[in-house]
Amino acid sequence: MNATVAQAVLALERGELIHLPTETVYGLGARADDPQAVAKVFEAKGRPRFNPLIVHVADVAQAETIAVFDARAQKLAEAFWPGPLTLVMPVKDTGQVCDLARAGLDSVAVRVPAHPVAQEILRAFGGGVVAPSANRSGRPSPTRFKDAVEETGAFVAASVDGGDCQMGLESTVVSLMGEARYLRAGLITRSDIESVIDGLADDASEGHRSPGRLTRHYAPDAPVVINVTEPPVDCVYMAFGPTDFDGVVVQLSEARDLREAAARLFSALREADAKKPARICVAPVPEDGLGEAINDRLKRAAGFVG
Ligand code: TXA
Ligand code: MG
Repeated sequence: MNATVAQAVLALERGELIHLPTETVYGLGARADDPQAVAKVFEAKGRPRFNPLIVHVADVAQAETIAVFDARAQKLAEAFWPGPLTLVMPVKDTGQVCDLARAGLDSVAVRVPAHPVAQEILRAFGGGVVAPSANRSGRPSPTRFKDAVEETGAFVAASVDGGDCQMGLESTVVSLMGEARYLRAGLITRSDIESVIDGLADDASEGHRSPGRLTRHYAPDAPVVINVTEPPVDCVYMAFGPTDFDGVVVQLSEARDLREAAARLFSALREADAKKPARICVAPVPEDGLGEAINDRLKRAAGFVG
């Protein structure tokens, strides 16, 4: 569907997905404050894990309500926004950016896109919009309207045609969590960043850094055991579907709905942990669709993956 800005805004409000044209690549957008909407993004992309997403906002003022800006952030925003720069900063308001959008991190990636259609949509919507590139996982990022539609058109409620993307390369990502780091190369180069702030860490030789190692991932204090069908009495049981367990139960999804389970995953882990159990036992979750990413996160919580 070739939709208008008004249709896209309505779709966002309803928790549906949109195609968001930006100056870098077409994004697959959803409201950042709604975990069910964000779960649809991972579902549509077929991503095997919940990596943190970029939150797009209309301007610096709005970004400042979401993240904690230090002097470096202010200078970089002034120099490069609106434009193809994403800043990773401490999250200020987790109500505006749900846990699933941040993959449970205490940081948030924010960018103000320059594309006039993106600007129009974000301004009219008024809230933050997560938007990874609109391709299916493992495929090239779409830079033309028709490519975006071909990749993920079946999953979106509104596709807005913004013409061909001018840049065709994803935004530069700079982390300001502690030492400044150039995390993802883009059209705004390392020396562009260095012309504005001091102390950009020289991590070129360290190769790819996973966001998990840069900032703290939420991990429960209680040990987590997965694939449990016979939970012991002293555990909190994280169920997926109906259970006759007599002890404390936290449901991922009574209806065995993977989207609901994805949306609830981080809050369910916190809720279970808050009860200070001897351990958190998690029911088996099927591997299909969003199940793969849910299981990946659960395995990390259980200490199987780094
Ligand atoms: O140009 C772009 O940035 C496009 C358009 C649509 O705006 N979006 C995009 O999003 O490329 P995505 O989800 O494909 O890329 C997100 C990048 C990843 O490299 C991710 O690891 C990083 O941002 N990122 C997001 N949140 C982070 C965080 N809290 N800490 C560290 N890295 C983060
Ligand atoms: Mg991508």
